[in-house]
Amino acid sequence: MEEILKKIESEYGTPVYVYFEKEIKNRIKNVKEIFEGINLIPTFALKANNNPALIKIMYESGFGADIVTVGEYKGAEIAGVPKEKIVWNGNGKSKEDMKFLKDKIKYVNIDSFEEMELWKNIKTENIEFFLRVNPDVDAKTHPHISTGLKKNKFGIPAVKLEEFMNKYNDNRIKGIHFHIGSQITEISPFIDAFKIGLEISKKYNFKKINIGGGWGINYDGKEINLNEYKEKVIPILKYYDEVILELGRYIMGPSGILLLNITRVKQGIDKVFVVTNGGMNLLIRPVLYNAYHEPVFLNPTGKKAKIDIVGPLCESGDKLLWDKELPIPEENSLVYFKNAGAYGFSMSNNYNSTLKPAEVLITENEEIKLIRKRESYEDLYKNIIL
Ligand code: LLP
Repeated sequence: MEEILKKIESEYGTPVYVYFEKEIKNRIKNVKEIFEGINLIPTFALKANNNPALIKIMYESGFGADIVTVGEYKGAEIAGVPKEKIVWNGNGKSKEDMKFLKDKIKYVNIDSFEEMELWKNIKTENIEFFLRVNPDVDAKTHPHISTGLKKNKFGIPAVKLEEFMNKYNDNRIKGIHFHIGSQITEISPFIDAFKIGLEISKKYNFKKINIGGGWGINYDGKEINLNEYKEKVIPILKYYDEVILELGRYIMGPSGILLLNITRVKQGIDKVFVVTNGGMNLLIRPVLYNAYHEPVFLNPTGKKAKIDIVGPLCESGDKLLWDKELPIPEENSLVYFKNAGAYGFSMSNNYNSTLKPAEVLITENEEIKLIRKRESYEDLYKNIIL
């Protein structure tokens, strides 16, 4: 690993996101095994990572695309994902986007009565509607990424479904959809939601379901237990003729890292500040969700201290990790952060007029492939009119 990362640094510099094709494919294989015996339509949630080179790998392994915006649709299109494998999600679909996307995708998850009102007047061909149900189930995850409670903005409340079905007798409605949250590490919220789903499905004779994503990965010791999922959740899904899945984090999170250079090692009063050449502009999850991304120093010294790893941006919130007892690294050496392949680059920004980083893929046969160039200063100002 060390060798190849040094090679990447010398060829493409840092900051850089590095992805592992082998890991992506292993995870896809795991998913397929878990759903054995079920007619599964797996999709990848592009919000987790929108690089078409990666989406193409997933598509060639059988995955379609879950999109929220026209921008994400374009990513799927560049990757070659055909319309039959595209699902459109979102609580704020605009009329313009509906008209633009309606013949380019197959599945739409309807978020509200109000959205359905708009679709009533839009002619579609071969589109299938799934009703996103808000089951009021606690996913037991971070409040920012919990979506299945009645206080959350998403979905049609389960208790209002009967009213919905009475109001809209639309034969494009083929099933229901759930997505109760992200980074879920317990099985019971899935069971609770899908049991509610089963009741609804039997009542209205729906034989299709979209079960969303949400599988939690191991950032800090806890992760979803897929044996338990197979044992307890899959049997509920056996009822259906078709099950759609929208996974983001599980596939890409552990399949990528963020590689940075240590610009400075600064002695503070009661801790050491390790200053890297990227911060919350590149990986916002630590400050936004209090998330832990394990750091690995390529050149640690023998001395330990309480450490903050911080970026170069002009505010104190710009940190990747804080108050942790770690070996002090050497200045001008490399550090990488694990589990950064999902919601890393896709949530990055240009704060302080910094450039979006390069993205590199390590292929199955250990070749290094550049899959996104680092942004240039020309890119940064290309839309300016003086
Ligand atoms: N389907 C829908 C409708 C979603 O809203 C999401 C994620 C997914 C699928 C994929 O979920 P996953 O398998 O990745 O858990 N930025 C946050 C995560 C936000 C997730 C939003 N929705 C983070 O960095 O933790």
